[in-house]
Amino acid sequence: MQQPVLTPFDLGTGELRPDPFIMETGKVDLGVYYKQERFEAEKEIFGRVWLNVAETAELVNPGDWIVREVKVRSVSVIIVRGKDGEIRAFHNICSHRGMKLVWDEKGRGGKFSCPYHAWMFDWAGDLINIPDEACFSYVDKKESGLTPIRCETWEGLIFINLDLEGTQSLADYLGPLTERLKNVPFASYPYTARVGSMIDANWKLAIEAQCEAYHVRALHARTVSKMLSSTDNPFVHPLHVEYLGAHRMNSVPRNPDFELSPAKLVQAFSFMNAQQMVIADTGAQDKPEETFAGHEDINPTRSNFWGNDQFVLYPHFIFHLSLGGWWLHRFWPIAANKCYWEAVYHFERPQSLRNQFAVQYSLALNRDTLMEDNLALVQQQMVMESGAKKIVQFGEQEGLCKHLAAVSEAAANDIAAARIAAE
Ligand code: FES
Ligand SMILES: [Fe+2]
Repeated sequence: MQQPVLTPFDLGTGELRPDPFIMETGKVDLGVYYKQERFEAEKEIFGRVWLNVAETAELVNPGDWIVREVKVRSVSVIIVRGKDGEIRAFHNICSHRGMKLVWDEKGRGGKFSCPYHAWMFDWAGDLINIPDEACFSYVDKKESGLTPIRCETWEGLIFINLDLEGTQSLADYLGPLTERLKNVPFASYPYTARVGSMIDANWKLAIEAQCEAYHVRALHARTVSKMLSSTDNPFVHPLHVEYLGAHRMNSVPRNPDFELSPAKLVQAFSFMNAQQMVIADTGAQDKPEETFAGHEDINPTRSNFWGNDQFVLYPHFIFHLSLGGWWLHRFWPIAANKCYWEAVYHFERPQSLRNQFAVQYSLALNRDTLMEDNLALVQQQMVMESGAKKIVQFGEQEGLCKHLAAVSEAAANDIAAARIAAE
């Protein structure tokens, strides 16, 4: 298998290189999935790198806002589109006595009234009203606004960085990806469905399960195996792999010989009506330039057996681009052995009940497949903590997992070195 080119990366602390031993051997210390010391380093990483939290499409009108949580940092974030059209982020904590300011998940109007004593803030984070203000002679309203969080967007995706002192821009953090996916038509797929679940497993295990298709034949034998695994490519080797600084991508093939089973009537009906995420529907697009397939950097090998391109951004964000739409995953560490997983699926807007049915079928199929992953992860985490094995072993077809582990290792070592230097 041809090895992709390895490049250095920068998480805002200077140039780092993916751990060479992991890249060479695919061997990773198993303790990284449960040891508290490693988890503490990762907590710090989540406090200083760019994190994807939302999409600009969630904030269509001035005054629209959403709340997202970065629990591993005890942070709740208000993300709001201002009356000036700009998207800003603030810590969701009141300047009076530290109450969580907004308890709902989303809303409109761009004003935030604290549930405790009703101090009021606006979309710019300014404190605009204090009830019984005469009793607060030591409060300077201009100095008592919401605490800002760095917030930038890229191709309709909203990222935050919790390190207010940090100077690295989102474009620099994304590195080669910034140009690699310029003008990708995310917006052509505006119909969304969101799912999420708490998983009793380390967040990196959950990411790995979405980063390789080696497990498809075994773990997904009852769901999507036949759609991906083919006679020529039984273990679903990627068509193409790229290491992009701290990030990475591969092209996932589909099974060109997949045949609908006469026994699976619902599946057959659904697939006839397009909008599939797993299997490409090559005849469905009237305007290829507005689809992912029309973008010159997607499906880079121009394979007829292309299923989707998958981008895995450090530390916790994955998105897949396919003919029928795109979907994303965010993995949020909670504890060393617990994470929260969320996924958002994006389709073209269904034009008919048939389309609608196909979308629902696709969602159900994806849900079932992901449940197979998530249930397996819990079993994996449980026995990993026994200490019976010291390493995990990645193979060549698990290159994305290996690269992620090598970047994670370098980032954690960087934190450890900084700690020692500070002592
Ligand atoms: S804590 Fe918010 S108004 Fe009192
Ligand atoms: Fe899976």
